[in-house]
Amino acid sequence: MSHACKILQASAENIDLCVDLLRDGAVLGVPTETVYGLAGNALNEESVRKIFEVKGRPLLDPLIVHFSSIEQAEAHVEFNERARALAAQFWPGALTLVLPKKDTISDLVTAGLPSVAVRVPGHPIFRSLLKRLDFPLAAPSANPFGYVSPTLAEHVAATLGDRILAVLDGGACEHGVESTIADLRNPNAPMILRPGPLSAEQLGMQNVEVELKQPSNKSAQPAPGMLTLHYSPDTPITLFRHGERPSCVQQSEAVLYNTKPAADKLAENTFWLSESGDLTEIAHNLFMLIQKLDVGGYTQLQVERAEDVDIGIAVNDRLSRAAAKR
Ligand code: TXA
Ligand code: MG
Repeated sequence: MSHACKILQASAENIDLCVDLLRDGAVLGVPTETVYGLAGNALNEESVRKIFEVKGRPLLDPLIVHFSSIEQAEAHVEFNERARALAAQFWPGALTLVLPKKDTISDLVTAGLPSVAVRVPGHPIFRSLLKRLDFPLAAPSANPFGYVSPTLAEHVAATLGDRILAVLDGGACEHGVESTIADLRNPNAPMILRPGPLSAEQLGMQNVEVELKQPSNKSAQPAPGMLTLHYSPDTPITLFRHGERPSCVQQSEAVLYNTKPAADKLAENTFWLSESGDLTEIAHNLFMLIQKLDVGGYTQLQVERAEDVDIGIAVNDRLSRAAAKR
């Protein structure tokens, strides 16, 4: 753990500073409405390379490119009518579209794929950066490869702080899980590649069963972020069914429920993601609480699965990957 980097409050001067650093090719931690990102100039190969290095990410796992507007995105990707309609309805927001790339986007960003994942983010601080720059920002989640995604600036500083100059503080991320990724290459058969804050129903798509696939290390994956083992804390995670209780709990283990259990006296190792069981709140708190429990000295985290609807589908997707065996 290292806190060498600066956590910058989002003052006008600090935004100016970040704009200068990004123009110089630096890679910085930035807030988004989903999770914190590790951002660099998407059109500068050296910056893109730095992103992979800082994150310790294999070059086979492509990056999402963030734009300030649909118009800016149109210059770098081939839209179709359906993608354009989704962008008009959901951007700025937590929707990433996979579309054919134009030549301005290098193969390094897309891991050699002819498509690129793009979104216009909604976080006001991230937007103010993008509006000041004349290039888009490539940004994966700002966690070391395979670890839990960061939802606070402090998470970024604690895990990548010795490798970046600064992280811009935008507070706790609203959604707490990464954007929904939809493959729109074929507008007649759009596919959800990663469940997220926007559900398949909201997007007018079918919910595909997201499989936990073992990655092949030979070529870029159709959905390379969908590695079986991902989002994992150092402490082993086991899951139990929604609405149930774990069968056996050691004192050295922590139990994480969706909702505060109804009991007069709760054991000290009992935690919950929401007072009321609200799914939006459960997602918002998920990575934050897992990171907190991960440094709590527990031998194991027993976590309740969420209800399999709306953003609960994304929560369960992340939990299944976090609990996958190493
Ligand atoms: O909410 C988010 O999407 C956050 C914030 C920072 O924007 N970003 C994020 O990036 O989650 P990352 O790199 O952790 O996950 C992006 C995933 C990649 O792992 C990859 O699977 C998928 O997006 N992806 C990127 N380009 C793709 C492509 N051309 N085809 C299919 N999937 C792609
Ligand atoms: Mg990620």
